[in-house]
Amino acid sequence: MATPRQKLGTKEPKASQTLSEAQIAVHWKEEQYYYPSKKFIAQANLKDPALVKKFSEKNFPACFDHYASALDWDKKWHKTLDTSNPPFWKWFVGGKLNACYNCVDRHLAKYKNKAAIIFVPEPEGETTTVITYQELYKRVNELAAVLGDFAGLKTGDRVTIHMPMIPELPITMLACARLGIVHSVVFGGFSGEACGLRAADSGSRVLIYADGYWRNGKWVDHKAAAEIAVKTAEKEGQRIDKVLVWQRYPGKYSSETPMVKERDHFINDVVKAYHGQTVQPVSQDAEAPLFLMYTSGTTGRPKGCQHRTGGYLAYVTGTAKYYQDIHPEDVYWCMADIGWITGHSYIVYGPLALAATSVLYEGVPQYPDVGRPWRIAERLDVNIFHTSPTAIRMLRKAGLDEPRKYNYHFKHMTTVGEPIEPEVWQWYYDVVGKGEAAIVDTWWQTETGGFLCTTKPALDPMKPGSAGPPALGIYPVIWDEEGREVKAGSNLAGNICIRNPWPGIMQTIWGDPQRFVSQYYKKYNKNAQSKDWRDWPYYAADGAMIAKDGYYRILGRVDDVINVAGHRLGTKEVESACLTIPEIAEAAVVPAVDEVKGRVPVVFISLKPGASAEETRAIQDKVTTAIETMIGKIARPKEIHMVPDMPKTRSGKIMRRVLAAIENHMDTGDITTLANPDVVEQIRVLVQGHEEGKLQEGPEDIKRFGQES
Ligand code: PRX
Repeated sequence: MATPRQKLGTKEPKASQTLSEAQIAVHWKEEQYYYPSKKFIAQANLKDPALVKKFSEKNFPACFDHYASALDWDKKWHKTLDTSNPPFWKWFVGGKLNACYNCVDRHLAKYKNKAAIIFVPEPEGETTTVITYQELYKRVNELAAVLGDFAGLKTGDRVTIHMPMIPELPITMLACARLGIVHSVVFGGFSGEACGLRAADSGSRVLIYADGYWRNGKWVDHKAAAEIAVKTAEKEGQRIDKVLVWQRYPGKYSSETPMVKERDHFINDVVKAYHGQTVQPVSQDAEAPLFLMYTSGTTGRPKGCQHRTGGYLAYVTGTAKYYQDIHPEDVYWCMADIGWITGHSYIVYGPLALAATSVLYEGVPQYPDVGRPWRIAERLDVNIFHTSPTAIRMLRKAGLDEPRKYNYHFKHMTTVGEPIEPEVWQWYYDVVGKGEAAIVDTWWQTETGGFLCTTKPALDPMKPGSAGPPALGIYPVIWDEEGREVKAGSNLAGNICIRNPWPGIMQTIWGDPQRFVSQYYKKYNKNAQSKDWRDWPYYAADGAMIAKDGYYRILGRVDDVINVAGHRLGTKEVESACLTIPEIAEAAVVPAVDEVKGRVPVVFISLKPGASAEETRAIQDKVTTAIETMIGKIARPKEIHMVPDMPKTRSGKIMRRVLAAIENHMDTGDITTLANPDVVEQIRVLVQGHEEGKLQEGPEDIKRFGQES
């Protein structure tokens, strides 16, 4: 039988791919298992093996009706999955529901006086705000009235929300969902320019902002970004009619940026006219888009992942219930930012659909000291905690024994976003979890809506460093570049794919369906005409291995994306920012290993002839400024190297793989076929100094970096 790769038959394997994944043996020590406590198991949502069986492949896709049944539908679906137009799947066809109703209204009967959101401001002297489900209902309704009546927004319109971690952010998202307005939340730390580009791409004519917020003890004048966002969007041909601004301190404007007459409005003032108003939730088709979330890919511009209402909400509700073990009685705290997919799925939609109490913290975990998260946990009696390996590494480095000083008890903890080193996992388990909490290491992506691999906390043992088995109803496979299956226990790495559709998968890329197909489905598609989902595996662009016990270990991105502190950064985006500087001829961005953040970007630039190398410092500063302006501080490079030339193939392609190897003191491999092999040694000296140090083995993702470009 022909392999998928041969069947595609359009491309010759690239030179850099001749070293197949199948030939890269990975050696890693098998870790021991850890078992959840009897106490945890006794109260767990998922402890019935019969339910697990229900999700076996022979019951696909009907197994996912179980998740959808956890929601309230205005009209029940008549077909679970429609595969007639692959890979544009339709879930819960014919069904109608409203996401806001499911996260708010339906809880009023039983839980109206229960805390829905607890907001913890960064300044420790400021009091915590509790928003009950009743109050959330009121506030969401009033804002929905503002959006519909005052801003003139209708079902299907897009709105860009550039806000920090304040309760008005989930309130705004839910008010949009109530009316079927597609929200596009841009991470608050992104620059105004990044927000403007996303607003233009989504065709938003309304921006929603906050005037400012606290971060690491400093007041950030966030409204300043709105001015840049509006200008950028307009440059891109998208007019912004209204900028609606929440005041962080209601009644007081805390930004130095003037409000623009007619265009800018304080929501806190406008909403007064809508006091007590209610707005009917719009009954939405299951396939109606709920939101866009922009993420970085292999091209210069971020892409808008479009998520559907019914399938997405069903998937995050089911996975939050079974993997995070959320019950309505729990106090759940996810330390991620709502501006990322983790926050959408597992701060807002999943927990609120389950009537949980979701804690929202404004600031950084280390402010004013690394005891802060544990003080919050103690005070609010948080029992489910969720964070990233980067945060765990940082908290461990700066406060090894800090959690022991506080009297809190987690029953469950999640980690997400990056591979976690077994020793970091061990600290999380022993010290943060006090040996009492079950841990799930959840592997997934912006595109996938919810978890793809994770242990079932009461049923599967934990294994440090492994995400674990696939989530219910997910059937992964690892293939090498030639389409051969990488078998369990083979100690080989390959590309992890998901063989089947699932309700949480994105619908398409906003405005670019072709890219959706080419990016995620083309690589291992067996037959472009096929209507059978089995021919359309999802390509995740992550390297992975599977151990004998069926546990997956995720090794990291195999494309031009760098995972910085658990956040995706497209190297092409950073390179485009560098190339806006007139003196720069070429730019290449590669990942470097960082003890806390996992990976950080390092920039290589070469100058145009005639540009003076004496101005190195000035040009480096310009590079940093350009990156911070166009993307945000999150993308700030660790180093900027000015090189005489880039290592290139004979066809002129920059060999980023070679630069990544030099930066990380790894073997550069065979460079004799390069057009300019001599430059490699010059760059090595520039980066590492004259003395050749010992070469490192280096992590898998850096070994593979640049293969796809
Ligand atoms: O490389 C994988 C890594 O994060 C990428 C997805 O990033 P993003 O879309 O920003 O979503 C992050 C939150 C879901 C993946 O392609 N990743 C995510 N979770 C894990 C992980 N790597 C290893 N282990 C994980 N648990």
